[in-house]
Amino acid sequence: MDDSINVYPSKEQTAQKMAQYILSEINTIQKPAYIALSGGKTPEVLFDYLTREQADWNDIHFYWADERCVPIDHNESNYKSAQEHLFNPIGVLPHQIHRIKGENDPSYERWRYENEIQETVPSSGNLPAFDMILLGMGSDGHTASLFPGQPETLYSGRLCEVAVHPETQQRRITLTPRLINNSKQILFLVTGQEKAQSLKTIHREDAEKLPAGHIQSHYGATHWYIDQEAAQYLRES
Ligand code: 6PG
Repeated sequence: MDDSINVYPSKEQTAQKMAQYILSEINTIQKPAYIALSGGKTPEVLFDYLTREQADWNDIHFYWADERCVPIDHNESNYKSAQEHLFNPIGVLPHQIHRIKGENDPSYERWRYENEIQETVPSSGNLPAFDMILLGMGSDGHTASLFPGQPETLYSGRLCEVAVHPETQQRRITLTPRLINNSKQILFLVTGQEKAQSLKTIHREDAEKLPAGHIQSHYGATHWYIDQEAAQYLRES
């Protein structure tokens, strides 16, 4: 599988095209399959497109690339967002959902989630290998909860780490690049002009400068779905 950068005119068209790709994969992928979701606002548009067409979601297991350390019913819970915009509409059953428990002590939950992944996600090489990880990117180039200036999470030898949001100091549980890069497919959904500069840094200057630039499937494919606003500095000059 080759990497790709896919640019579409609007946020909605970008999310729709990514959803169509995911649905085609879901209907052909060998089951059981293992998918990790991201949080933030962008995935809600994607989730809404995913629910519009029929797909066989049975035997798909859902995980998260990161979660905020908040209660399950908190408005910032990535689980709550997925439950409302994806799981409820398509009828995902509880045994398919492997939630990061944001209500737990972060250090304990880091350990617990790392073990749940090791025990439930089949390995490739000597690491668990998700079939697909869906990621976003912040305007500062963070992805999952891998933030600039936090090398201890970026270069961690573990599968999960506790991170701290640099502005809000909110604690997060995040997958590490070591685990993410062992996935068969990594799909980025990045929209909005505020993301353009970081995309330019990653794709035109020096990927290593930003956390999202450290993400690249080692054995599979990395696909970027980007709207024209976010891709404005990527056009061939
Ligand atoms: C999170 C996400 C985070 C998100 C980016 C982009 O839990 O916040 O995993 O990495 O993907 O912050 O967020 P938006 O899509 O809301 O811009």
